[in-house]
Amino acid sequence: MKYLFSTIIYLSVVQIVFSQKKYNPNYDESKVPQFNITNPLVTFDGEKINSTAEWYQIRRPELYTFFEESVYGKIPEKIDELNFETIEQSEYAINNKASRKQVKITISKNNKSISYTVLIYLPKGKTKAPIFLSTNFRGNHTINADPNIILTDAWVPNTKELGITDHKAQESSRGTRTHRWPVEKIIDGGFGLATIYYGEIDPDKNDFTDGIHNLFYREGQKKPKPNEWGSITAWAFALSKTLDYFETDPAIDEKRTIVFGHSRLGKTSLWAGASDDRFAGVISNDSGCGGATLSKRKFGETIAIINNAFPHWFSDTFNKYIENESALPVDQHELLALIAPRPLYVASAQDDKWADPKGEFLSAHYASAVYNLFEKEGVSSTKMPIVNEPIQNTVAYHIRTGKHDVTDFDWEQYIKWAKKYIE
Ligand code: GCU
Repeated sequence: MKYLFSTIIYLSVVQIVFSQKKYNPNYDESKVPQFNITNPLVTFDGEKINSTAEWYQIRRPELYTFFEESVYGKIPEKIDELNFETIEQSEYAINNKASRKQVKITISKNNKSISYTVLIYLPKGKTKAPIFLSTNFRGNHTINADPNIILTDAWVPNTKELGITDHKAQESSRGTRTHRWPVEKIIDGGFGLATIYYGEIDPDKNDFTDGIHNLFYREGQKKPKPNEWGSITAWAFALSKTLDYFETDPAIDEKRTIVFGHSRLGKTSLWAGASDDRFAGVISNDSGCGGATLSKRKFGETIAIINNAFPHWFSDTFNKYIENESALPVDQHELLALIAPRPLYVASAQDDKWADPKGEFLSAHYASAVYNLFEKEGVSSTKMPIVNEPIQNTVAYHIRTGKHDVTDFDWEQYIKWAKKYIE
């Protein structure tokens, strides 16, 4: 028995060392492989796209289908029912500058259902304000110390510094992420803010029995089919269903909803924006691999690393490109291009090499060809801007000082840009 245990421990250590060795990230620019940037305006068959009509009719659908079937995975079927219930509301929130509403959204399919809560703050004295909508990492109650935000009862990751040891949200975690969510600044800027906890839609772990995927299974099925949705699509889908709710609420300007996300949730906001053109604008904050950054540069996190660490985020079909990026008929700039002509903001942080800031920048640049087709200004230069000096056109980009995070600087830029471009 003792021998068996030490063998298992030994093999696990070997496996960890082996996988780390095998998938070591590269941080050396001179080791970035030679690769071709696929042209978003040339079809898979080599036909040139000359007009916005051709883009919509020919190129956009084939690109979208590729990302849907081979990267994020598609939603198997339509849902049966969608219900909304306002469970809390007040006219006095955020120093009396905002109203607050908490709405339970229930998605039903095959006599099963799943619910999540959207927390909404709207600036007072403004009818129909534009609104930022985002998923959050640790529960709605972590974004602000507001004692009225309902604590999530969904699975949350154990986090020592938040006092969470049994996967249950605690009072002690209330307001612990306020630095990422300057609600008052957003309200003062004339915008609303809405957020949902991603774990209420699909807990962020490699288990497909505990989230929304489960509603769609046939008898005996335990996980989605290889070309079907991973967690990112599930989270993005919930953002779209939240937009369905916005359409029913006269206080919200659903036509000026900007979908925002950080990191894995930045990947999610990009996919949500590409999948649902009702989103008026899209912001990707430090989204990195599988988000804004070019996969073929293989700088920082790679397809191999991400699929190894988070096998549930993407469809299984994406595994085909592990250590095989050159076989990809697309790159992530074409995901960004799917958002055109709607405003798009890609942001990086200088110390966030894991997410490859240069790859994020170049991706915004190469996506701009499609924006130009719509006579919208993108990121025209191939030279990265100076740190903390944003380029703000319909496609915007900045790299700020500091680490992988969301800061006041980031929000100040988003607010400024959104005021100009989200009309
Ligand atoms: C990990 C992962 C990234 C992701 C990040 C996050 O670092 O490798 O791809 O963006 O988590 O979501 O915070």
